[in-house]
Amino acid sequence: MSATQPQTDSVGIILAAGHGSRMRSRIAKPLHTAAGKELIRYPVDLLTECGIQTIVVVASPDNHPEIAALLGDRVHYAIQPAAKGTADAVACGLGALRSVPELVMVTAADTPLVRVKSTRRMLDEHVSRPDRRMTILTAPDFFGPDLGHIERADPGDTDAAGPVSAIVEAADRESDPGRPAEVNTGVYCFNGPWLAENVGRIPVSASGETYLTSLAEMGNKAGDDVVAAPFAWADEAMGVNDRQQLSAVATVLQDRINSHWMLEGVTIIDSATTYIDADVTIGMDTVIQPNTMLSGQTVIGEGCEIGPNSVIRDSTVADRCSIVASTIEESTVHTDVSIGPYSHLRPESVIERGVHLGNYVEVKNSRIGSSTAAGHFCYLGDADIGAGVNVGAGTITCNYDGVAKHQTTVGEGAFIGSDTMLIAPVTVGEGALTGAGSVVTRDVPPAGRVAGVPARLLSSSNEE
Ligand code: UD1
Ligand code: CA
Repeated sequence: MSATQPQTDSVGIILAAGHGSRMRSRIAKPLHTAAGKELIRYPVDLLTECGIQTIVVVASPDNHPEIAALLGDRVHYAIQPAAKGTADAVACGLGALRSVPELVMVTAADTPLVRVKSTRRMLDEHVSRPDRRMTILTAPDFFGPDLGHIERADPGDTDAAGPVSAIVEAADRESDPGRPAEVNTGVYCFNGPWLAENVGRIPVSASGETYLTSLAEMGNKAGDDVVAAPFAWADEAMGVNDRQQLSAVATVLQDRINSHWMLEGVTIIDSATTYIDADVTIGMDTVIQPNTMLSGQTVIGEGCEIGPNSVIRDSTVADRCSIVASTIEESTVHTDVSIGPYSHLRPESVIERGVHLGNYVEVKNSRIGSSTAAGHFCYLGDADIGAGVNVGAGTITCNYDGVAKHQTTVGEGAFIGSDTMLIAPVTVGEGALTGAGSVVTRDVPPAGRVAGVPARLLSSSNEE
């Protein structure tokens, strides 16, 4: 059986019910984010990509509602009533199943750096031995003072999968060895019936918890086949127990994500100041200039120039756009658009093909029609601006009367003179013109010309 195939009669258990007290946070640890992705989503994706179709998340009574709101019915849930240790958590996970599967994979919720490749290799190693009881994914040479250290039955043999005599937890080590060791990543494969039989027999440790890792020594003593698979690289073993580790993990993820996009044909000028979230996608030949953040569910097309100093969140930017020193939130930008420097798209803005938004243009909940230009300091809120409109410098949609928000509509091909105030609700017809400094309080007919404060109709046709 290959690990890339769906694993039949297998279950993945993700342990997410710990206190996470070292985070010093009101937010449950599994919901903290690294590279814009909640920590709990990393092991869910890992197990899914290893072909595990049934996943049980062991949550605490406190964090279960939030985790369930995030993951929905992608996974099943078990509740661990009190955080009595990783073995107790696994027992709770098994208790949520109707029957004991042949294969059980276990991961923690706080190790987002574990790679699919290493885990698949370890899974292949596990399933290749019918008598195997427990396979531990380890990183052979990692400085992990807070991690479980592997003791090999044959201490000389650490570069291949081999028998383990014990996993020694940090709390139980007489002294910190102060040097790298073979460490437990917290990802395991178990023979399901063996796990179910033994997990309830684990003695309570000095800390008052039952350790899942005690199974290594128990199995070894009973002559069972328990093996360390040293297939993880050193950068996979780091867990997130505190904020320093959260930051360190995020740095590794940023580096991996940036490398991935560079290999996909994206130019990143300065990787150290480019922050791309895990769920973002970027098209070929796009250039990311320094000091740029692409976050949340953002999609960037091909051949764009993004940054320097741009922040784009939960937005779609199509091909060949230029976004310089600007912020875009929850908006859609079509092809061949140029924005910035210093402009801001607030949520629900749709910028159509070929639009130019120059300096200090703020757009909110508006459609800007194709080839329209707003070059200099504008506010366009709750507006529908047609195609080919010239929006003069200093144009403002006065959308708020102190009580409610109102809509502004500008027809195709209109010319909005500099410093026009459009007092919403108001409509400026197609091809109409407003003079500089107009305060438009009434609708302007198509092709009409208005000017003044309040703006008066000068002619109903703008052809002289
Ligand atoms: C654990 C391992 C350690 C390994 C490290 C890898 C044990 C005893 N130790 O240590 O060998 O090197 O992970 O990162 O397993 N959890 C529960 N219920 C509990 C306690 C914990 O669900 O009662 C969950 C936590 O939410 C967490 C995971 O289990 O996701 C690991 O627990 P944690 O306390 O972080 O263990 P470590 O000390 O990091
Ligand atoms: Ca941990």
